[in-house]
Order: sequence, then structure tokens, then C-alpha cells
Amino acid sequence: MTGDNKKLRSAGWFGDEWHQGFVSRGWTKNQGHPEQMFDGRPVIGICNTWSDLNPCNAHLRILAEQVKRGVYEAGGFPLEFPVTSLGETLMKPTTMLYRNLASMDVEESIRANPLDGVVLLTSCDKTTPACLMGAASVDLPTIAVTGGPMLNGKFRNENIGSGTDVYRFTTELRAGSISRLDYLEAEAGISRSDGHCMTMGTASTMACMVETVGLTLPSGAAIPGPDARRKRLGHLAGNRIVEMVREDLRMSRILTRPAVENAIKVNAALGGSTNFVVHLLAIAGRLGVELKLDDFDRLGSRMPHLVNLMPSGEYLMEDFFYAGGLPAVIQELEEHLHMDTLTVTGKTLGENTSGAQCYNRAVIAAIDKPLKEAAGIAVLRGNLCPDGAIIKPSAASPELMQHCGRAVVFESIEDYRARIDDPNLDVDKDNVLVLKGIGPKGFPGMPEAGKFGLPKKLLQQGVRDMVCISDGRMSGTAYGTVILHVAPEAAVGGPLALVENGDLIELDVEKRSLNMVVSDEELQSRRQAWTPPRPVVTRGYAGLYVKHVLQADKGVDLDILVGGSGPDVYREPR
Ligand code: FES
Repeated sequence: MTGDNKKLRSAGWFGDEWHQGFVSRGWTKNQGHPEQMFDGRPVIGICNTWSDLNPCNAHLRILAEQVKRGVYEAGGFPLEFPVTSLGETLMKPTTMLYRNLASMDVEESIRANPLDGVVLLTSCDKTTPACLMGAASVDLPTIAVTGGPMLNGKFRNENIGSGTDVYRFTTELRAGSISRLDYLEAEAGISRSDGHCMTMGTASTMACMVETVGLTLPSGAAIPGPDARRKRLGHLAGNRIVEMVREDLRMSRILTRPAVENAIKVNAALGGSTNFVVHLLAIAGRLGVELKLDDFDRLGSRMPHLVNLMPSGEYLMEDFFYAGGLPAVIQELEEHLHMDTLTVTGKTLGENTSGAQCYNRAVIAAIDKPLKEAAGIAVLRGNLCPDGAIIKPSAASPELMQHCGRAVVFESIEDYRARIDDPNLDVDKDNVLVLKGIGPKGFPGMPEAGKFGLPKKLLQQGVRDMVCISDGRMSGTAYGTVILHVAPEAAVGGPLALVENGDLIELDVEKRSLNMVVSDEELQSRRQAWTPPRPVVTRGYAGLYVKHVLQADKGVDLDILVGGSGPDVYREPR
């Protein structure tokens, strides 16, 4: 494709000689755009998740200006547009309920408008997968620019990490080992610059995924949000997207099965978030890339853990960037990866990362001296989770990897809140805590409530980890022996719904098994007595979500959104 306006998609609006062209050009000119902007040059949409209600994305308005400069410089015409933003720290009941809604907004906004290529500006956890899902269903030339991590958090003379240290400080406050004043001081220093969470939480994990699959420019994942190099990256992305339109380098040529396999392997080496699983399944599903839950275990679980970042390690994204960032990790993993996958640069992953070096082995370990030999996400099966459940061994306690304990069951999040700190709760450190009803349909929205606090009386005895099981997710910044994404979930009658107080639960991560020691006859009789919970919501988007959402092993997308409709508008109105 060239700059010839007859071949560009935007020519269907701006290249028209009659009524459509008159209104498309004429009304757009009210922003002061001169005539030459409509001469057939590539029109680039800058899809912006900026919002005052999403602190991790609040700097994207400025970043959009850098992208525009790059687009103009390369001979394109940039048009910025807002889409739904999903701020992890403010939205209730959970941003995950709205990830698919935001993806619909992105998809339809791109398709409905005169765009030839798209730059996605994303940052906070769900904004990256939502934008990728929506853009994938249209499949134009697309490049992502993530917002970059915040600078390291600070508490007195200590580095503190988003999420991870919030859990730690909250646990210590509940245990009575720090004061309310200490807690407030930590709050003031944890989020002190532009950017997303700076642990290897979900936002950093998704940014690394985007770089690994080749949808952003090299080093794009780790440059800190306030670093001038991120603005330069935005400018260069603006340059490059114009060329990508001319090369017709669409998302589907980049986000292929080999690229997805690379992402799974790199995520294991990073100690990345468990949320990676549901997001990558959903993104792959939009492009028709074959991907199953078991692929995460088969491809990733034996990979070495190389990156020493919280929550699995000690350091933060700022340190990771100075240590060489993702290109250095990819170089270490070279023998395990498909280095010939195509990226937005027009070059291969191998070409992009050739010569990348590690500058700090405390942060990025060498492949022959990994932090752990095998640390990727493990997929469990058994009579408690016939369609799978996951655990992140690198963030769990080694002594609990094989465990058998009596279940202490909470039927809902409200039941948990009411009883967890009851001094009369019958619980000890060897029990297995089970929380039902926080899955995709049941909550609804599958919140990050799967890493729930331990009983106060056990905390006060010094207990800091127990086996916890739920059909929910956990924050990428969380840690512990937490079994998540149990499928089918309790609300649709999965076996989790049938667990009762006192049932023995057997976990064996090495054997990938999770079972309740209850006879089939007993389970059958419990199933006959089980009645589905009444839906929490039936109307509006949330009602639509409950009706159409898929289970965790399918990526929690809506069944009506899987796949794509391409870039063509559905019908011409005139
Ligand atoms: Fe936005 Fe963590 S709250 S990335």
C-alpha cells in the first residue's frame, strides 16, 4: 500500500468527492487542519485511555502529543480519540467486569472512523489487554505505547513496591506490628510519579507481553513513565505507524502463534502476573490464534526464573530498566524463543534484541544461573477444578507446594468479611481456605479477591501464608500459595460449589493436581441438593456480561466478542 488515497481506508471518508467527503473534511477542518491533511496521507488514530479517574494513565495526554509529532513528521495525519479507561485503584466492583466493555469501545471506535492505523496508549492493568483485544478484532496496522512504570516507591530509606508492599503493610498493621502513622507514611511514598505499578504486577506484565510479541518498539516495556526516553519512544512510534500503514503491516502478521509462545516463555522468566493467562487467552481468541490453558504450563512452567522483581523477587521496574530491561531477558532466553517473529519495527525479535546486554546480574540473572530452575505458572487439574486452576509457584511458599488440609469454606465475599477475624473461627495454619462466588459470572467480573487476608488470630501467631483456593483472580503484585481461576466457577455449579467445611483438600503442584477427598456418591448427592445463586445483576452491561461471559480457562471474554470483524464498516449509509 502506498500513500495513494484510493488505496487507504480513510479515503472512504476523506477521499470522497461528494457529500461524504464534504462533511468528513469540512467538519474535521473546524479543528484548524489545513487542506493538505486530506490529500490521501495515512490517518492515524491515537486511541487514548487517559483519564483523571485512572492515575496510572493520567500522563498519556502529554504522551499523545509526542506521538502526534512523530505522525506529522512521517507525513501522516494524527487524530486522537478517547476510550473507556479502567483505573484499578478506583473502579468498583472490579475493572475486570469492564475489560470487555472497554474492548468493545476500542473496536467499534476504530472501525467506525476514517483510520488507517492506530497507536494504542495504555498503562494500568486492564487498559492494555482491553485495547489489544479491541484493536485485534479490527486488525489494522497497530502499535502500542504503554505508559511505563512509576519510579521506585520510597518508605524512609527503603524501596517499596506497588501492591506487594501494600499487602505487606496492611498485614503488619492488622497483626499490630506497625503503627497507623507508619502506614500513612508508606501510603505517601508508594506512588510518587507518573506511570503504572512498578512491581512485576499485571501492568508491567502486560507491557512486557506487548514488547515480547513485537507490538511496541524495543525497550518500550520498562522505560519509566516520567523518563524523557518514554516521550521519545512515543515520537518514534508516531513515525513508525505511518510506515506500517504504507507496508500494510497489520496486527495479525505480528501477533501469531509463535509470538504468543514467546510471550508465555518470557512471562515465566519474568515471574509475571497470573492475570497474564486470562488476558493472553482473550487477545489470542480475537485473532483466532489457537491457545489453550494447558499451553501455559507446557510452554512456561519449566522455564527458568530470571528476573528478580517483586512480588517474586526484590527489585522494581526502574531497576529492571537500568539493568537492560526486556531486550536483555530475551537475549538470555534466545535458545528457547522463536527469534524470527515479525515485530512493529518490520524486523524480527532477534534483530531488535541483537547485542542487548545485562548491566546488573542481581536484577536479571544469567540463563545458566537462574533464580529458580522452573517457575512459570502451573495449571492444576482434579475433581475440584476439572477445567483447570492456576498457581504461581514463584510467589508461593515451597513448603506448601504439597499439602493436605481441612477446608474452611466461605460461601461468598460477604461471608468471608463477616467471619475471617472472628476469634471463634475454627481454623489453624494447616487448613485450606476456600472462597466461593468470585468467578466471572458469580461476582460478577472475577475480582482480584483471590489473594485474601488470613484470619487475624493466625496472623498474630506469626502465620503469613496458607493454601487459599478460589474462582477469582489475584493482583499481579500479590504473593502467597494462592490457587486461582478455578473452573468451572462455583456460580455455574462447578465442583468448588460443593466443597464443605471439614472436607480434606489435597494439593500437589509437582503432580499438577488439586482434589477434594470426597467420594463421587457424596459429591453427586451434594450436586442434587445444590441450587444456583441468584444473579447479583441482570440489567445493563453487567447483565449482558453475566449472560455471555466465558469461564477463566477461555479468557473471560464475552462469547459474542471472540474473533474479529475486520476493518470494513458493516454497511454504507448512503
Ligand atoms: Fe494501575 Fe497498578 S493500579 S497499574
